[in-house]
Amino acid sequence: MKNKAPIGIFDSGVGGTSIWQQVHELLPFENTIYLADSKNAPYGYKSSEEITALSIKNTEALLSMGCKIVVIACNTATTNAISTLRRTFDIPIIGIEPAVKPAALQTASKSIGILATQGTLSSILFHKTSSKFTKDIKVIEVVGEGLVPLIESGKMGSEETIQLLKKYTKPMIKAGIDYLVLGCSHYPHLIPQLKQILPSQVKILDSGKAVAKNTQATLASLNLLRKETTPPSIQFYSNADIETMKFLLRDYCEEISVEKRDF
Ligand code: DGL
Repeated sequence: MKNKAPIGIFDSGVGGTSIWQQVHELLPFENTIYLADSKNAPYGYKSSEEITALSIKNTEALLSMGCKIVVIACNTATTNAISTLRRTFDIPIIGIEPAVKPAALQTASKSIGILATQGTLSSILFHKTSSKFTKDIKVIEVVGEGLVPLIESGKMGSEETIQLLKKYTKPMIKAGIDYLVLGCSHYPHLIPQLKQILPSQVKILDSGKAVAKNTQATLASLNLLRKETTPPSIQFYSNADIETMKFLLRDYCEEISVEKRDF
C-alpha cells in the first residue's frame, strides 16, 4: 500500500523544481507532491531556528498528504534542519547539500567556486563537509544575494540577474576556478545565463542527480518503490503566486497539476 504513496518534496519556493525534474527522470512512475513555500521565501537570510520551524511545517504538510518519503529540495533547509527533521519524524528524509566533494575531487586548477545562500554557507553542516574535502583547495564562497527573489518572480534572464551573476562570479573567475558549485536549488534555473558569463572551461555542478539517486536507493532498500507502470499523479502546490512555477514546468504541463494552496 505504501508503495503507491507519493514522494514528498519541498523547497522555500520554485527552485526545487530543478530537483523534482531529476527525481521524475530517474523514477518516472513515482507519484510526487511538491510544496513551494514561496510565501516564506527566501529562507537564505532567516535564522537556523526559523528555517527549522518552516521545514517542520512543510514536512508535516507532506505527511498529512500521505507521503512515504520526504525530499528536502533546499540546501538551506537541509544544512540547517535535516537532523531535527530526522529526529522528529518517523519517515525517510533525503537532503541536498552543495556538490563540494565532486568539485574538490575533480578540480585541476585547485580552485573552485561555491554560490549559495547565506544560510547554507554559514551552517555548521556545510562547514563540516566543505572543510573535510577542500584542504588543499582554494574555495571562493559567494552568497547569491538577491538571486532567489529574482527567480521567484520569473526574472531569470533580466539585466538585473545578469549583472548580479557577473558580480558574483568575478572573484571566482579571477581565482581561476574550473568548477562552479551551485549550492542552492534555485540556481540551476540560471545555468543558461551562467554559461554566457563563465569561461568555457568552467564546469557547473549541482546536486539534483545525486539527490534523485539517493531517493531511488533509499526507496529500493525499504522496498517502497511504486510497482505500477501507469502514469503517476504529479501535484505541485505553492502558497503564493503559481505563475513562475507553471513557467518553469512548462515542458510537463500535460502530465502535472499546479495549484495554489495554503500549508
Ligand atoms: N532553494 C533554496 C536552497 O537550495 C533556498 C533559497 C532561499 O530560499 O533562500 O538553498
